[in-house]
Amino acid sequence: MMDKKTFAVHSNAAITAIGTYVPERILTNAEMEKLVDTSDEWIVQRTGIKERHIAADNQFTSDLCFGAIDNMIDRYGVHITDVDYIIVATSSPDAVFPSVASQVQAHYGIVNAGAADIQAACAGFAAAIQLANGLLLSGAHRKILVLGAETLSKITDYSDRTTCILFGDGAGAFLMEASYNGQGDVAAVYTKTDGERGHLLYRSSLASAIGEHAIQTNGYIVQNGREVYRWAISHVAEGIQQLLERSGYTTNDIDWFIPHSANMRIIESLCEKTGFTPQQTLSSITQYGNTSAASIPLAIDEGLKSGIVKPGQLMLLYGFGGGLTQAGVVLRWSL
Ligand code: UT7
Repeated sequence: MMDKKTFAVHSNAAITAIGTYVPERILTNAEMEKLVDTSDEWIVQRTGIKERHIAADNQFTSDLCFGAIDNMIDRYGVHITDVDYIIVATSSPDAVFPSVASQVQAHYGIVNAGAADIQAACAGFAAAIQLANGLLLSGAHRKILVLGAETLSKITDYSDRTTCILFGDGAGAFLMEASYNGQGDVAAVYTKTDGERGHLLYRSSLASAIGEHAIQTNGYIVQNGREVYRWAISHVAEGIQQLLERSGYTTNDIDWFIPHSANMRIIESLCEKTGFTPQQTLSSITQYGNTSAASIPLAIDEGLKSGIVKPGQLMLLYGFGGGLTQAGVVLRWSL
């Protein structure tokens, strides 16, 4: 048995299992045409989205987390009752508190774990990996469940055609563990936030203004799509370059580029600006829409299931959105 000091010095963070879940109900573009003044052609051309999965009325973000964790246990046979920390990245929790992470703890009877939700919108999953990595490297924790999960359909205004065509529901889970063999999976991290642009994309709660900007108070997602789009293809592209520089790798070294699936056109622009090719890129936008904190694990799992993601490959994960905030991770895939 290693003492704590030795453990802290020699520990590293390894991803040891993945699971995902999406609700059964599919909302197609044809159905969207009946809800608002839009067309399949417009949606596909402007966003790349064909359909999204929508939670049932009695299904909440915690339920989607349970689905993703059950899927992980089924596939990898992992034990999670000895997990010592649970982080759920979400902007659509069942309640502000108790956290979704607390509900995961209770549901699986994980008796000795801390639990917290983090809210970094579409950057949430990458931000949660960064936090878990830090906790594992420091020796503070040894086995962490990291989830990105959303029921955005519950906070979407289905009379607003500029947002309702975008969002879908889903969940993804990583199990991250301290590794004693010196081989960590996370190679580099990067974050940046432009809070002065926060009013461009928000879900209101108590206040009716963000800084100097008056905002709607209906509890729905509100977005200035054009401005967020501009920010994404300039500032986010710059952030991705920064992360690459930090990692010491080039686009040629990275096997898979996995940006947040906000919009296919944004993904294509990010590829053009950063030098990644579409063939190197994984996304979950076409089948699932924009699932915010869940979009990156859903995209990775699609790659795994189709057999193109393989152990030993290098990945660059990059989340961006509400805040406006960005978080990215370069990691070596080991599953
Ligand atoms: O995940 C978090 C980060 N979020 C993002 O990165 C999202 C960033 N923004 C976007 O993805 C895009 O801005 C949208 C997909 C939201 C919108 O696409 P766009 O190409 O930027 O459209 P636009 O807002 O410039 O609107 C173009 C036209 C407008 O009509 P006019 O003013 O030119 O007559 C809109 O009213 O398209 C109209 N429009 C629609 N038409 C049919 C807006 N929404 C729709 C719609 N169906 N659903």
